[in-house]
Amino acid sequence: MIIDQEKLEEYYAKPPEDVSLRDVDLSRVPRHVSIIMDGNGRWAQARGLSRPEGHVAGVDSLREAVTTSVRLGVDVLSCYAFSTENWKRPQSEVDLLMHLFATTLVRELPLFHQENVRLRFFGDLSALPKETFDVFQQGLDETADHTGMTFVLAVNYGSRAEIARAAREVAQEVERGSLRADDVDEGLLASRLYTEGLPDPDLLIRTSGELRLSNYLLWQLAYTEFYVTDLYWPDFDRWEYLRAVRAFQSRRRRFGGVEAK
Ligand code: FPP
Repeated sequence: MIIDQEKLEEYYAKPPEDVSLRDVDLSRVPRHVSIIMDGNGRWAQARGLSRPEGHVAGVDSLREAVTTSVRLGVDVLSCYAFSTENWKRPQSEVDLLMHLFATTLVRELPLFHQENVRLRFFGDLSALPKETFDVFQQGLDETADHTGMTFVLAVNYGSRAEIARAAREVAQEVERGSLRADDVDEGLLASRLYTEGLPDPDLLIRTSGELRLSNYLLWQLAYTEFYVTDLYWPDFDRWEYLRAVRAFQSRRRRFGGVEAK
């Protein structure tokens, strides 16, 4: 992706003491950055606010993550917004999140147009309320021709369900005779996942200090570098993003071999 150096420098003016744009090599920015956005509830609780207020504050961080990714020349940004397990939350919170996803997407569509961002989803959208489903579909339609960064929201997403769905699809094709069992390999299975056609994440960022994957991209994260920050999601900003990229660039990726090329 092409970087607009002037815009980027302006965006990263006034650095804090510990990190600046000079700390990262712009020719080695991760292609695919994925984020587990966690800690909205705890951020709100720590301020005596309600959980919904935490989610609303989280929207600003998400916008900043999108803008920062575009400025840094990232090809794909994917964010875990709602898991298949999140339906277990109180109904009022589920309703609020679904409504927030819809209203946020409508409000942010002009940003996607302005920045040439293409929208995509991971997850089973058929189970979403009609309002949310319709807006997501509108987002897909309106950004289908965009050629810049791909922004993915994982909604009603669970990695085990995704892999089971892929296996089911493949099994049905074998049953029909359109595929031979011997032809089932990693590439074929990967082509049936929601991530079809996308590079695996290079960098996974998780906020709020939790050290777990929470059923997220189990297949795709096989060789991904992790960066965990104690910041709650609403406190995540362009500078923490830069710290994550700096940490990523300090790692030696060997992909199971001896030395990365
Ligand atoms: C984690 O906080 C965040 C979520 C449940 C995901 C929802 C994300 C947002 C609302 C950000 C904006 C996203 C969109 C698509 C508009 P948590 O509730 O798990 O926090 P906790 O672990 O502290 O309870």
